[in-house]
Amino acid sequence: MKIAVVGATGLVGTVMLKVLEERNFPLTELIPVASEKSVGKEITFKGKQFKVVNMETAIAMKPDVALFSAGGSTSLKYAPLFAEAGTTVIDNSSAWRMDPSKKLIVPEVNAYELSIDDKIIANPNCSTIQMVVALKPLHDKYKIKRVVVSTYQSVTGTGVKAVEQMMNERNGIMDGAMAYPYQIDLNVIPQIDVFEENGYTKEEMKMIKETRKIMGDDSISVTATTVRIPVMGGHSESVNIEFANDFDLADVRAVLEKTEGIIVVDDIANLKYPMPKDAHEKDEVFVGRIRRDESLPNTLNMWIVADNLRKGAATNAVQIAEFLLRKELI
Ligand code: A2P
Repeated sequence: MKIAVVGATGLVGTVMLKVLEERNFPLTELIPVASEKSVGKEITFKGKQFKVVNMETAIAMKPDVALFSAGGSTSLKYAPLFAEAGTTVIDNSSAWRMDPSKKLIVPEVNAYELSIDDKIIANPNCSTIQMVVALKPLHDKYKIKRVVVSTYQSVTGTGVKAVEQMMNERNGIMDGAMAYPYQIDLNVIPQIDVFEENGYTKEEMKMIKETRKIMGDDSISVTATTVRIPVMGGHSESVNIEFANDFDLADVRAVLEKTEGIIVVDDIANLKYPMPKDAHEKDEVFVGRIRRDESLPNTLNMWIVADNLRKGAATNAVQIAEFLLRKELI
């Protein structure tokens, strides 16, 4: 199994390499790919050195799978070229997510949709992934009518420059390079990505549209407010879910507890609930603060946390590759 990691020098690419290594992905050859400026740079993987190559060299090497995290325009241009060479592309950018001819996959939710003909597979937005992992088993049991979500998102979702901005501000350097239009340390910014005509941000619209596509149900109403907070390690979400049918709270907890990929941390007597600090470098989605919304019938509140670079990006992509391998689709 020859695996290319496109964007291997980036924040998500680096985590992809780590996840491939940790999960002992059965690869025989690793092809790290980045922009021209990084060609020749050495990447260490399982104690061995691998040289970064450019796109053209990687395509000519005909990898079985290419994990892409190098930006939307790079994906639009190069994913089809890899696919033509017979490579299955798993793309972390937003480029292909809403393309009706491409599958948008969270393995715990809809991996069954994948076939051998899927040569470009989209990895969803980080905030969407962690939410749908928790929504799906509850939708199957009680049928979701509406979801109201507010996010508390880590600066790592923006990239290295945002982490630098926050750390600079924390160290009193206020005139460094800015990844956000405002100070992020000691602040909260209720804007992620650009605004659209309807007053929502692109990130909010991604959560709305991607959730319906992954769950395969356009009847689910979703509304979102996405917010950047000065935190690293993971995204948190306050999620309010209105079901068509009533539920038993203990049953909701039991359903979540037995769902693959979820860890329930919900012991308020001992002040236990999910926090980004604890989700950092973990592959699972953490759910807590599970309680009835007493203002509406059939409605639940919960708190969902996951490492946005792991389950929200790299881990989900690697899990898609693992599924394809297991089902002999590559
Ligand atoms: P490079 O480090 O050479 O610029 P991040 O999102 O953390 O900034 O990372 C983006 C990743 O995508 C980096 O590994 C970057 O490589 C890579 N990248 C950006 N543009 C291209 C391109 N045109 N071809 C290949 N890799 C690219």
